[in-house]
Amino acid sequence: MTSQTSTPQHSKPAGPVSVIGLGPMGLALAETLLDRGHSLTVWNRTPTRADDLVARGARRAPTAADAVAASPVTVVCLKDYATLYDVLDPAAAVLADSFLVNLNSGTPDEARTAADWAAGHGAGYLDGAIMVPPPLVGEPGAVFLYSGARDAFDRHRDALATLGDPRYLGTDPGLAVLHNAALLTMMYATMNGWLHATALVGSAGVTATGFAELALGWFMPAVVDPASLLAQAPDLDRSHYPGDLGTMEMNLNALEHIAHTSAEQGVHTEQPLLMRDIARRAVAEGHGEQNYLALFEVFKKALPAV
Ligand SMILES: NC(=O)c1ccc[n+]([C@@H]2O[C@H](COP(=O)([O-])OP(=O)(O)OC[C@H]3O[C@@H](n4cnc5c(N)ncnc54)[C@H](OP(=O)(O)O)[C@@H]3O)[C@@H](O)[C@H]2O)c1
Repeated sequence: MTSQTSTPQHSKPAGPVSVIGLGPMGLALAETLLDRGHSLTVWNRTPTRADDLVARGARRAPTAADAVAASPVTVVCLKDYATLYDVLDPAAAVLADSFLVNLNSGTPDEARTAADWAAGHGAGYLDGAIMVPPPLVGEPGAVFLYSGARDAFDRHRDALATLGDPRYLGTDPGLAVLHNAALLTMMYATMNGWLHATALVGSAGVTATGFAELALGWFMPAVVDPASLLAQAPDLDRSHYPGDLGTMEMNLNALEHIAHTSAEQGVHTEQPLLMRDIARRAVAEGHGEQNYLALFEVFKKALPAV
């Protein structure tokens, strides 16, 4: 584990925290809390996963209920929301006046249902999303997203800050996992772009290493420029897509070429065809003379049922 071991000078004394769930991520959370001086109680379905933590001073709770009762804050990091109920329904008797920070992945509706479930048991609840892999928990640059009751977030902010920069997104408990899905769709779309592009030039014998400098060293920062997209974000908010520097029709033409080139070179065509079809829909909906960002109007709507 690579997390830092120093306790920040400015922070209040680290309070007791319980961690339920010691998979790769739960272990990273628990190790970081322990490293930063929190008195730590842990519970996991497979108790041996806590052995190293116990050797370093954590307390192994015999049951999940015992873990919840041991600390004013319980961080839950299980596989999914269904597992949360499997583990904590039997602990219902101790949930009243507890405070749960739930960090498993899921959907906004699942998060809202879990917040209602916690309220029904008299427990405080924050839903969260972890935006880094286990080795980066507690490291500079680690970001955790939270949503739910603002006063609860403020009250427990110091403990949450042990794990990473805590970003509060709003009172709707579904907002953290919604933002998680939004950021991950960006990540996957970007990675798919790089991988498809590399396969495309690879069809002519160009290596990924050979292509990387042009694609990632120059093109990505210069042309797919975050600063430029940041400057255009207000245009999305006001549906303002001036086509004076390039139109949707022009971009559709480029997407047709990409799809045909992919077919000609014998590589995967579904991804370029999907991008082409989305642009075709934008044109069909009247955005042909606007710029490419008008695609936002297509993405905002569900597809008509087939
Ligand atoms: N790992 C990452 O990079 C990462 C990054 C961001 C978010 N997350 C999220 O963090 C959560 C935990 O992820 P993870 O990587 O630690 O591994 P995981 O495989 O998603 O979850 C493992 C944990 O869930 C427990 N568990 C699974 N089924 C259970 C059941 N039926 N009853 C009781 N406990 C059960 C496991 O207990 P046992 O040890 O007994 O099997 C273990 O504590 C997930 O929602 C994941 O999406 C993970």
